[in-house]
Parts: sequence; structure tokens; C-alpha cells
Amino acid sequence: MGVPISLTVNGKPVSADVDPRTLLVELLREKLHLTGTHQGCDTAQCGACTVHLDGRAVKSCSMLAVQAQGSAVTTIEGLSQDGALHPMQAAFRECHGLQCGFCTPGMVMSAVQLLQDKPDASEQQIREGLEGNICRCTGYHNIVQAIQFCQRGSVAASARA
Ligand code: FES
Ligand code: FES
Repeated sequence: MGVPISLTVNGKPVSADVDPRTLLVELLREKLHLTGTHQGCDTAQCGACTVHLDGRAVKSCSMLAVQAQGSAVTTIEGLSQDGALHPMQAAFRECHGLQCGFCTPGMVMSAVQLLQDKPDASEQQIREGLEGNICRCTGYHNIVQAIQFCQRGSVAASARA
């Protein structure tokens, strides 16, 4: 028997009946068809399933959908605004911060959180901040470059403001 839950996903109210064992990542992908959130390991190791829950990056395979009751979830699909890529997405594109793209949605969500918490993060702090996200393709170099590119853009934007 399903448990009724209500939450906000990418700014829209969502109600669903879920099996109590349903993971948040399963709710997002299978019921809401938000397949940008990837499922790599289901054991909270790879970070491909990272989304924002009430503004904080979480691995959506590590929590039950019912635990998101009343929360606001943002997935990679909700990051762009009015059709324009989020600056972090644009930076990944600009710096070729991806190859196969499997890790990318989770990387971007973690990177956004990382710079929110530490706008002046050093390269070392960026590398440490990405420890929960695994990429099998890039060797991380271009991912770090992308985050630094975004960082420089944010600094430039705040200097202009
Ligand atoms: Fe969630 Fe790998 S699928 S951390
Ligand atoms: Fe392929 Fe990261 S780009 S896993």
C-alpha cells in the first residue's frame, strides 16, 4: 500500500503515492521521469544521483522518497532558468568538463553547492569538495577547470553588480 507524499520538485508541487521503500532517486526517475538524475551505484558512493534538497546537495539514492515529504527538491532539470543554462552548466560546456556525461548532473549539482558554501574555494578545496562524486572518464582536470571558470565568472558578475 502506498504512502501519500507531497513535495516541491523544480518549483512545482508534486503529490504521489509511494511504496515506503521507494528511494528518492526512484521517485524522481521512475514516477516523475526526471531522468537527468542518474543512478550509478545505489550505495551512496558515486554521486551521480545528487540533487538539492531544501538547497543542500544530497545523494538521492541514500534517502527514501517519504523522507522528502514537505521538502523542495531541485534536480539538474530545474537548474536552468528560462531556457538559459545555469552558469555552472555553461562552465562545464565551455571547459569540456565531461566526456560520457554520466556523472555530470551529479557533478554539477555538487559543484553548485560547493561554490555556494565556499565561493573562494581553492583548487584543493574544489577537489576535496568533489570527493563524493566519481567520474570514470575525465580524470577530473576539466571538471575542476569548469568549476574555477564558473568561480571566476561569479566573481566578475559580483564585481559588475
Ligand atoms: Fe547514488 Fe551512486 S547512485 S551515490
Ligand atoms: Fe563519464 Fe564522468 S564524464 S563518468
